Amino acid sequence: MITVVGVGPGNPKLLTSYALKKIKEAKVLVGGQRLLEQFDTRAKKIPYDRNFDLKSIDKLGDGVVILASGDPLLYGIANTLLKNFGKEKIEIIPGISCVQYMASKLKVSLNDAKIVSFHGRKGKLEEILNYKKIFIFTDKVNTPQKIAKDLRKASCTDYVIFVGENLSYENEKICRFTLKELAEYEYEFGINLVLLLGE
Ligand SMILES: C[S@@+](CC[C@H](N)C(=O)[O-])C[C@H]1O[C@@H](n2cnc3c(N)ncnc32)[C@H](O)[C@@H]1O
Repeated sequence: MITVVGVGPGNPKLLTSYALKKIKEAKVLVGGQRLLEQFDTRAKKIPYDRNFDLKSIDKLGDGVVILASGDPLLYGIANTLLKNFGKEKIEIIPGISCVQYMASKLKVSLNDAKIVSFHGRKGKLEEILNYKKIFIFTDKVNTPQKIAKDLRKASCTDYVIFVGENLSYENEKICRFTLKELAEYEYEFGINLVLLLGE
């Protein structure tokens, strides 16, 4: 059995007690460096980086726990594992998504929210144009500034945009911008989540 544990947006206080139990029991922990560093356990730690072959994971034996940021099924590694290994071999422990976290901070309902990911893929504006409340996962290429610029180019200017940076960490910042302000903002954000709100 391969266990995938959602560790929440990052701050250990947002980890569920069941997730922590699973992590403590693990013989091998696989995850991104940011997540592996958080846990002081005896488990062997294997960084999930470019050299790691996900398909080889079932050869690591029993007691393998894969750490996933936020919730493993929301644009997370659990989706890939399910495709590769099937439902019977995978156990999924949910976590608090950074989307839930930011919505709670801003006191914004999730009932009518659209969630898309531009992380590691070409962001398609047409995915979002029919919605008034859109959370967007970003990355180093699809930055908040790029999203703001692309929206302006497409003449979609009826949005305010929030950027949640380093959510749940001590250096967390959630800032509100107009698209023009953000498009012209010269700053390199840390890990971040974008929320577009239609006016
Ligand atoms: C591949 S997605 C995984 C999302 C995750 N499964 C979840 O439910 O939150 C990774 C993206 O989530 C966002 N993210 C994850 N943790 C974050 C944090 N602590 N602060 C801001 N954004 C975060 C970033 O946009 C990052 O590029």
